[in-house]
Amino acid sequence: MRLYPILPSRMSILRVDNLTKTYASAGHALTVLHAVSFELAAGDTFAIVGPSGSGKTTLLGLCAGLDRATSGSVWLNNIQLDNLSEDERAAVRNQHVGFIFQNFQLLPTLTALENVLVPLELRGQRGAAKTALALLDRVGLADRAHHYPAQLSGGEQQRVSLARAFANRPAVLFADEPTGNLDPDTSERVVNLLFELNREAGTTLVLVTHDLELAAKTQRTLRLRGGKVVEPAVMAEKR
Ligand SMILES: Nc1ncnc2c1ncn2[C@@H]1O[C@H](COP(=O)(O)OP(=O)(O)O)[C@@H](O)[C@H]1O
Ligand SMILES: [Mg+2]
Repeated sequence: MRLYPILPSRMSILRVDNLTKTYASAGHALTVLHAVSFELAAGDTFAIVGPSGSGKTTLLGLCAGLDRATSGSVWLNNIQLDNLSEDERAAVRNQHVGFIFQNFQLLPTLTALENVLVPLELRGQRGAAKTALALLDRVGLADRAHHYPAQLSGGEQQRVSLARAFANRPAVLFADEPTGNLDPDTSERVVNLLFELNREAGTTLVLVTHDLELAAKTQRTLRLRGGKVVEPAVMAEKR
């Protein structure tokens, strides 16, 4: 077992430094993340685990540039997110980040193919249709390209969202409880695809889960409780 930090010579792709998040709710301040720090090298696979309400989704959102911290810093692909405007953060997300959500979050009025096309077209990518079809084929859904989300099973919808997430060849893929709405067999297929695509693309994977079996598939795990990193703050490398 080796202790964190590891291999400082590898390129740092995500660095979180002393991150704190305080929400103002019902007239009082609620601090839901307390001075969280960690660093990931390109290609790492990382799990954030902890009970419901421990701050996992909040931490993921700050890392991915969906929201801004109250204090502390996030560097994503060497871009410091803290002082960027909403538009600048949206541009960073489109260029560097892929997402997978528990509830899939496909656009209901678009077909599977069109959903995968959205991030490619936002970037003005040439040959987008061909790329999107190849990705749908890779997740085993070429024959569902013209189906709408409502015409797909949960597992199929999550495979479409995998194809969409990898379309931009993101530097970091963030997945929040990606199997939370799936039965065990379907979960296994989605997880296998997620790790395969991740390996093929060399993407850094940040996974939020309360499923310890799923967390065990990543190289390192960060445990949160009540918004704090559970001691020991050092993270074990599993393999
Ligand atoms: N927008 C918000 N305003 C106020 N409190 C919030 C908001 N989002 C989350 N919280 C609170 O922050 C805490 C952590 O939430 P969350 O990050 O969703 O935890 P987890 O994903 O681990 O279940 C919870 O107590 C939740 O109620
Ligand atoms: Mg959550």
